[in-house]
Amino acid sequence: MGRLVVVSNRVVVPSGNDSAGGLAVAVRAVLKRHPGIWFGWSGRVTAKPDAAVRTIERGNQSYIVTDLLKEDFEEYYNGFANRVLWPIFHYRLDIAEFSRRDLKGYMRVNEHFAGELHKILAPDDLIWVHDYHLLPLARKLRELGHRNRIGFFHHIPFPPPEVLAALPNHEQLIPAICDYDLVGFQTEGDAMNLAHYLRDECDLPTRDLCSFRTNERTVQLGVFPVGVETVELNRLARRAVNAPFVRNVVESLAGRDMLIGVDRLDYSKGIALRMEAFDRFLSTYPDWRGKVTYLQITPKSRSKIREYAEMERQIDETAGRVNGKYGEASWTPIRYVNRTHRRAALAGLYRSARAALVTPLRDGMNLVAKEYVACQDSEDPGVLILSRFAGAADECAAALLVNPYDPEAVGNAIRQALSMPLDERRSRHNELLQVLMANDIKGWGEQFLKALMRTQCVPDWPSLVQLPEADWINTGEVEAESMENSVVD
Ligand code: G6P
Repeated sequence: MGRLVVVSNRVVVPSGNDSAGGLAVAVRAVLKRHPGIWFGWSGRVTAKPDAAVRTIERGNQSYIVTDLLKEDFEEYYNGFANRVLWPIFHYRLDIAEFSRRDLKGYMRVNEHFAGELHKILAPDDLIWVHDYHLLPLARKLRELGHRNRIGFFHHIPFPPPEVLAALPNHEQLIPAICDYDLVGFQTEGDAMNLAHYLRDECDLPTRDLCSFRTNERTVQLGVFPVGVETVELNRLARRAVNAPFVRNVVESLAGRDMLIGVDRLDYSKGIALRMEAFDRFLSTYPDWRGKVTYLQITPKSRSKIREYAEMERQIDETAGRVNGKYGEASWTPIRYVNRTHRRAALAGLYRSARAALVTPLRDGMNLVAKEYVACQDSEDPGVLILSRFAGAADECAAALLVNPYDPEAVGNAIRQALSMPLDERRSRHNELLQVLMANDIKGWGEQFLKALMRTQCVPDWPSLVQLPEADWINTGEVEAESMENSVVD
């Protein structure tokens, strides 16, 4: 295998503060075993006319990062990636805001990424692209003549064709996925959604819904649920419960049980509804008042986007209302914290919590669910309350699976978790742990790369279907009507 070149929107260069999120943790674990290059955005926005590109060497690993120009940050990142693709992929057509200007910005940044990669790629490099920011990157690389094997992993949900069809220009954007050799998903449902789209909307021939052929190649679809560093996390959590920070938190609970929720501040996480469910729990089971504290850790995210600011206000209000309704001078029912916490601190808190509330309205996988399980003490484990709409639910049948839209049901699950007998907690945890051990983060990376290596570079099938040309990619001016954002509904 040649060098591994990983590409994602965000690159996390290791620093003293180890608080990376799911995608970054997963990519890091892969690069630990296959050192190579990690290319993407530096996280910086520049007003200069040219985006600076820097190489940072750490051991035998290279990080090549580019700044984003101000308008690229607005149109590509805040705009098309996070105001259009993110909501649509999370089934939220009601808040998607499409504009052709943002789409052009999105294509421009994909072109910029391809152009920078073009300068460094060797013919035998294996390229692994991550997430919805970079759907057309393989097409851009192919246009520059690269015939390397290119894999794509979609970390977030992939909606059914009837949802996706609401995306203006989907006919050009989505088929560009066929320029990858392998496209990986978190769940079978996600993979099937793309398969049905390619079959029904693009009329691509397929024998088995797992591989599709175009003029140029065969694209394979596969399911590779992301795992966590199960053993390492357990070791970390065992140590972290004795760290001063975690001990302080536990002591401050004054013997009360702790429920924990850890999420990036995002509407897909269902945080306000979860607080409503906690309210329902306290009103239905008044004996529990004063005996349990719900700690919700929620680092802020994408705060320049309107929906995020509105959601933040809504969560603040809900937490305040619940605390005002039930709180006492000596007890705050919900502790709502917007800080980022280090990995070790989270591991210690997970192990100290009687139950975790992981109730997204829609989620690709949700690694918090798996991390919580990995961090438990097998002799006295906590209980995972998990949304049926998280990808993790496919593997975690032994969790208490809930419908996050139903606060009453979630409230009942909280009571069930807090009163669950030790035997049942152990057997549920044991079942979950077996799943995590069988598919940890190493397995995920290895299986994807193995499948990518097995793909054929040159198709052996006769040419049958020509994909539509993406004629808007380099078209001239933005049309006047497209200057306004229009709501996709
Ligand atoms: C999700 C996405 C990642 C993204 C992360 C943080 O997990 O799948 O691609 O990096 O959220 O979002 P941000 O916009 O801060 O990069």
